[in-house]
Amino acid sequence: MTDRRQFAPATERNRTPILNVLKAWLPETGTVLEIASGTGEHAVFFAPRITPVKWQPSNREIDQMESVTDWIAHSPSENLLPPVTLDVTDPLWPVEEAHYNGAPITAIFNANMIHISPWQTCEGLMAGAGRILPKGGRLILYGPFKYDGEHTSRSNEEFDGWLKARDGEFGVRDIRDVMDEASKNGIRHLIARPMPANNFLHLFEKT
Ligand SMILES: C[S@@+](CC[C@H](N)C(=O)[O-])C[C@H]1O[C@@H](n2cnc3c(N)ncnc32)[C@H](O)[C@@H]1O
Repeated sequence: MTDRRQFAPATERNRTPILNVLKAWLPETGTVLEIASGTGEHAVFFAPRITPVKWQPSNREIDQMESVTDWIAHSPSENLLPPVTLDVTDPLWPVEEAHYNGAPITAIFNANMIHISPWQTCEGLMAGAGRILPKGGRLILYGPFKYDGEHTSRSNEEFDGWLKARDGEFGVRDIRDVMDEASKNGIRHLIARPMPANNFLHLFEKT
């Protein structure tokens, strides 16, 4: 049988430091919706380590859905739900539909998306989080961020230039802009944690 698993080497480097923080930040019950699961490597690594909380992977692209499906077949976990197709810019996410059986979603995790996509994905992510999270529900973002207009490292500045050359709408986001978008949707920023390779984890909460 064809193995459609894709491999993103960075996930192997960042998954343990991310997991250590997730264990402290995730709620103790419900389902974590992962937005933009990419290859699915984060999903299969995190899920068995955060039981009894469930993990709901999602993706926009078909080839990535296939990769997640095959990663789950390769490394199953009881609390790992089949991936759903989800574009954050859609006004209604499939997990909001009545027949969705992974409810309640108590947290959202999203790594490395809002800088490698137009700003509309941040708007869509915050709007969706505002719609689906219960009061006290958590949103966790991972990736590089600017602070007050400044890059936190030379390598992030170079990465930002590379992103913008690829697509003028891409770019490392300023955490202030992300916080502003969050607050428009009833979500407040709680805490930030510096991570290896000049990345950050940011914890938000639905008020
Ligand atoms: C660099 S990958 C990150 C994948 C994974 N989270 C990781 O950290 O390895 C960026 C992801 O953002 C996703 N993405 C871009 N625009 C999106 C949208 N509008 N809705 C959902 N996902 C989107 C892409 O499909 C891709 O999976």
